[in-house]
Amino acid sequence: MKNLKDKKILLIICGGIAAYKSLEIIRILKKNDCQIKTILTNSAKEFITPLSITSLSQGKVYDDLFNIENEAEMDHISLSRWADLILVVPATANTISKLAKGSSEDLASTVILASNKPIFLVPAMNVRMWEHPSTKKNLKILKEYSYKIIGPEIGEMACGEYGEGKLTEPIDIANKLNNYLFMINRNSKFKALVTAGPTREYIDPVRFITNKSSGKQGFEIAKSLLRNGYQTTLITGPTNINVDENIKVIKVETAEQMFKETQKNLPVDVAIFSAAVADFKIFKKSNMKIKKTDELTIKLEKNIDILNYISNHNSMRPKLVIGFAAETENFEKNAIKKLKDKNCDMIIANDVSNQEIGFDSDFNEVTIFYKNKKQEKLSLKNKVLISEEIVERVNNQLN
Ligand code: CTP
Repeated sequence: MKNLKDKKILLIICGGIAAYKSLEIIRILKKNDCQIKTILTNSAKEFITPLSITSLSQGKVYDDLFNIENEAEMDHISLSRWADLILVVPATANTISKLAKGSSEDLASTVILASNKPIFLVPAMNVRMWEHPSTKKNLKILKEYSYKIIGPEIGEMACGEYGEGKLTEPIDIANKLNNYLFMINRNSKFKALVTAGPTREYIDPVRFITNKSSGKQGFEIAKSLLRNGYQTTLITGPTNINVDENIKVIKVETAEQMFKETQKNLPVDVAIFSAAVADFKIFKKSNMKIKKTDELTIKLEKNIDILNYISNHNSMRPKLVIGFAAETENFEKNAIKKLKDKNCDMIIANDVSNQEIGFDSDFNEVTIFYKNKKQEKLSLKNKVLISEEIVERVNNQLN
């Protein structure tokens, strides 16, 4: 498990019968040269002692949000910044519920809420609690917040019941972390570029033609690429969204500016063109505000097709080119035509005749058409989760 070497892991131990297994996790992580700091929740102290953890982890154990000594040494924000990743073991039904609500009532939940690092939850609880709709709902929320979930497994539980809810074995947890770190390390060599949002095509200094795109899907894809380790550049038309400072964001207005910036930021390994680029621009933009008249005819001319240009120029074509297709009719036929005409490896198509999904919505349902394999549908879900699934496919195609 060589990817664990020298990694800083913040282990948060919560109050469940499986808490004792965290000692085995610490032992394995230490054996693989991780640095470990631990937070013990109040209820975890009923199951395990700070002394046993310190002796194994050789690292500090924190337990109280308002402990002057702790805050002086390393405050709760620095603690979350110190870690390369946060591991929550066992993630009890209560912890999952608190995190889904965004509580910050103790050190553990405060650190998690303040964290900008990958957070792995390892649930363990009674099967009925695990299957309860409220737990399922909370987990869905946490997945949309990009928390990663390991397990639980099926088996006999401490309470004597049998079913899904057992903590994943410590060695398997360590392996999952190692695989994750391997993927991040591998992807960090790759550059990714995403175009997003609408463009504005000016008629005069104060008026423009644009479209309904909110940029949400493109921004989520860029965030997901960053979380997966890619060096990510996002070229975006006007939106109201902010992103992580680790994404290089370039703001543009017109299709022409988007085209220039895209060219400037090549070469990349993967380019995802999710922007709703205006197909037309104003033939002759007025330098003065156009005055009111009884009638006005505006002549439009075709804009450059950024995706088409880049993917058909061998010298600048990224290894992997992914386009979007927003369709209101002949969905499949049009998407396949775009896949071929625009020389893409993948086209992500959505039916924008449904007002509930796609443009300006938090949800999306897409079908991916591939150059070299059968199409597949990603069912209706939050755009964060759609992005995670798209980036998973990028990972597979690039490696
Ligand atoms: N695209 C682009 N530059 C343009 C127009 C589109 O880069 N000037 C990209 C989009 O970002 C998207 C793909 O091409 O990835 C398809 O866009 P879409 O608007 O669905 O298709 P068009 O080619 O514009 O065709 P039509 O509007 O006729 O369906």
